[in-house]
Amino acid sequence: MYLKKAELRNFRNYHEESVEFHSKVNIITGKNAQGKTNLLESLYIMSLGKSFRTNKDTEMIGFDQEFCRVKTTSMKEGRELEIEITIGKEGKSTKINGMKTAKNIDLLENVYMVVFSPEDLKIVKEEPEKRRKFIDRELCQLKPIYYKNLGRYKKILQQRNSLLKQQEIKEDMIAVWDEGLAEYGAKIIQERNRFIEKLNKISKEISCRITNGKETLDLSYEANIEYKSGFEEQKEHLKRMLSKNLKSDILRRSTSVGPHKDDLKICAEGIDIRHFGSQGQQRTAALSLKLAEIRLIKEETGVSPILLLDDVLSELDGERQNFLINSLEEVQLFITTTELSDEVKKQLPEGDIFFVENGHVKNLEKNTN
Ligand SMILES: Nc1ncnc2c1ncn2[C@@H]1O[C@H](COP(=O)(O)OP(=O)(O)O)[C@@H](O)[C@H]1O
Ligand SMILES: [Mg+2]
Repeated sequence: MYLKKAELRNFRNYHEESVEFHSKVNIITGKNAQGKTNLLESLYIMSLGKSFRTNKDTEMIGFDQEFCRVKTTSMKEGRELEIEITIGKEGKSTKINGMKTAKNIDLLENVYMVVFSPEDLKIVKEEPEKRRKFIDRELCQLKPIYYKNLGRYKKILQQRNSLLKQQEIKEDMIAVWDEGLAEYGAKIIQERNRFIEKLNKISKEISCRITNGKETLDLSYEANIEYKSGFEEQKEHLKRMLSKNLKSDILRRSTSVGPHKDDLKICAEGIDIRHFGSQGQQRTAALSLKLAEIRLIKEETGVSPILLLDDVLSELDGERQNFLINSLEEVQLFITTTELSDEVKKQLPEGDIFFVENGHVKNLEKNTN
């Protein structure tokens, strides 16, 4: 699929802007703090209904404005798809092909996007939360039901935790939440396990190609509680663990077991590179994960996702840059960069080059390779 057009209104530092994109490569250049990442962010909200930079939707409303709106037109499987998202101080509303939809979840199966930013390059070495977020983001795109289950799990967890923080704690009140927590928790665990198995197969192959067979990645699910192959078994086990840990949870004032503590283990040639990898290994792994993510979306949905590369090309060395660019046929690409080297420009397939300055986008020239 690809994006044809975006219209922005009061989105961050954009007042009113309309941009038409190339179906293959869109290079967005400009000095710092001009609106390059803002533009990518405005496109990204079409996929998950929220930003990749902030959890607070209202941050995207232009300073001193009441609302912001982004409308995009894309082509998917030969058909035009129009999505409009309006964010006001009180909430958000979405229209798909002119029809109002009530929830974020309706968006999920429409636009598939993968974003890759310098933050993502650190995903391997950073705290488990980052890797959980990565898994959740992808699973939400692939399985809208996962999005629902995750939302429910988080809500119940929050309620259980707030009970644990009260002055006077009634154990049976807390146990009331355990049934639901175990139900949704088990669903999340099962889905994560399936996802990581698939991702592992693909990223093994990709990492092997990037490193000429020197370092093959091995991803595994580091579930916070023991993984069980059946759902009922998983649920019962999680319930047992919740009640077993209740006393210590009361002391800690938070829930200590469950998928909110999961991690993704990333090894290369038997070494846990989260902790012991060189920066080079960690970057190669991050790149493999991202490319695996794109392939997996394509395999599972039949749709080529759109890739947003925010300032990441200049962070990769020549070899990794080449690999990335050359493995992206069929994917519509958005690349932001402060400086575009001729070398990179030559390698990119045909596309458009844009220049962003102070919230305005100019289509500069065609890249005619
Ligand atoms: N809600 C907002 N309203 C208006 N301007 C904003 C808002 N959020 C960020 N900005 C401005 O956007 C600019 C940063 O844009 P960004 O896209 O991150 O820059 P870059 O081109 O370096 O990627 C800054 O000047 C910042 O003040
Ligand atoms: Mg930026």
